[in-house]
Amino acid sequence: MSLKKLLEEKLTAEELTKLRRSFEIIGDIVIVDIPDEILHAKGDIIEAILRKHKHVKTILKKKGEVSGDFRIANYEIIYGNETETIVKEHGCRFIVDPTKVYYSVKLAGERERLARLVTEGEEVLVMFSGVGPYPIVIARLSKPYEVIGIELNPIAVEYFKKNIRLNKVEDKVSVVEGDVRDVLPEIEKEFDRILMPAPNTAESFVELLPGKIKRGGYIHYYTFAGEEEEESGALKKRTIRLFKKNGIDIKVVNIRRCGHFAPYVHRYVIDLRVI
Ligand SMILES: C[S@@+](CC[C@H](N)C(=O)[O-])C[C@H]1O[C@@H](n2cnc3c(N)ncnc32)[C@H](O)[C@@H]1O
Repeated sequence: MSLKKLLEEKLTAEELTKLRRSFEIIGDIVIVDIPDEILHAKGDIIEAILRKHKHVKTILKKKGEVSGDFRIANYEIIYGNETETIVKEHGCRFIVDPTKVYYSVKLAGERERLARLVTEGEEVLVMFSGVGPYPIVIARLSKPYEVIGIELNPIAVEYFKKNIRLNKVEDKVSVVEGDVRDVLPEIEKEFDRILMPAPNTAESFVELLPGKIKRGGYIHYYTFAGEEEEESGALKKRTIRLFKKNGIDIKVVNIRRCGHFAPYVHRYVIDLRVI
């Protein structure tokens, strides 16, 4: 039964429309957005969530949007007290604390898609790697030679290290703590594939790519864009221009929506082949 159905007798029809249709379940933590207008029904909302999702041990109320370098939102604990959890994804397990690190269940499908593109023996770099879901899913579902992650948030790096051990990928996956801008120039290697999963800032890191990606290699570039920009071909053109300006000739292989950002604005992943 949906949350709305469970709350039908507690909230008016108008109040029900205010309750965001979806909320996120990360392991045994629920993240819910309760607008101020229906805060008076907080107790009923908590009860409805617990009736529908019996395994839940903590409920977090979102306060504001994801922000800052570490891409974390503010939360208020409205039920329970434990904010660390284990989430399962494609046979992998990730320890995360959503109040301290970025992790989105909604990107699980995109991670699997990417992992399936990786061919045997590839050397892969994941910029902005968070607690390690892209590198670890790639290592578990495909046969790369190695996957290196770079991450700025020290707490995310700690979780990433725990997740490497938890998923037994020590021989394939490693993480370097720091800013991609400082770390990447120190890595003397040309990769077969580079992922740039930070749609709000990836653009300003393209200048670091020359000398780090092999000709014939792949780059997965993430960005936000309006539907109109995609449909008119402007997104493709701006991407080709951006890489060319930074000394990299690419062919756009695929443009795909992989998340919603705002009305008519989406997260896009653009798969690029270096030519
Ligand atoms: C949108 S999150 C993506 C995390 C991860 N790839 C995932 O899908 O769960 C972006 C991540 O980049 C990290 N970050 C932000 N700026 C960075 C930088 N300059 N260098 C390295 N990591 C950075 C943030 O701390 C955050 O964990």
